[in-house]
Amino acid sequence: MTTWLHNLRLGVNIDHVATIRNARGEAYPDPARAAEVAMMAGADGITAHLREDRRHISDADIESLVALTRQRGRPLNLEMAVTQEMEAIALAHRPHAACLVPERREEVTTEGGLDVAGQHNRIAPVVASLREAGIRVSLFIEADPAQIAAAHAVNAHVIELHTGAYCMAVRERRADAGDLYRTLCEGARMAAGLGLEVHAGHGIDYETVAAVAAIPEVAELNIGHFLIGEAIFTGLEPAIRRMRLLMDAARATPAREAAA
Ligand code: PXP
Repeated sequence: MTTWLHNLRLGVNIDHVATIRNARGEAYPDPARAAEVAMMAGADGITAHLREDRRHISDADIESLVALTRQRGRPLNLEMAVTQEMEAIALAHRPHAACLVPERREEVTTEGGLDVAGQHNRIAPVVASLREAGIRVSLFIEADPAQIAAAHAVNAHVIELHTGAYCMAVRERRADAGDLYRTLCEGARMAAGLGLEVHAGHGIDYETVAAVAAIPEVAELNIGHFLIGEAIFTGLEPAIRRMRLLMDAARATPAREAAA
């Protein structure tokens, strides 16, 4: 059984530990070791994306991560494309959660959210079969009312709001950051009103985490690339501890307008 450590949960995505390993075709650094450190440093759970092309996380990594998180009583969130192959893998391993994401071979990272509204008939049966296996199903979507309504219609447990555009706007000091933030806040409110659990992720760093963590409906953040990058300079454990402090401080004083 999963017990939550924190009111606002942190899922650490360890994909890019595997990216570094694969760059040399070596057995190190080991993503499972990173997952151990992440859990010691205050991560509530581990997130990993098994891509169709296996560019970072491998099938063997998923096996190790399933065993490790089970042993530690922590949730594993498997990010996956909506394909028969990935559905079969999820059903074989039964992770705590599966986050359905769009996936295109040529993309560098997950670009944009899943088009649930346009692909209802493709997504609904996969949601149903994962749910039936006891897996919590999350859909990675933009904070678009049509997509949120569609996520509710296909019976997902969770939506993960794509924070990439907002985080990029903040980093680039663009004037539309405030509007993008308000869209995230409204999306979170709408989803929670429909009974969906709300997560958020993509592109979050030390600068943007407070605003996202201050959205009261958000129950979980999933953060990867920035933390693995920071780990080069400070080590993984201090990087995660700092992220944890920033998100907890923001959650302790949720001020939606001030954070924008
Ligand atoms: N959530 C989802 C659904 C993702 O696809 C990713 C990227 O793998 C993340 C969160 C984490 O994004 P980042 O690596 O930019 O922190």
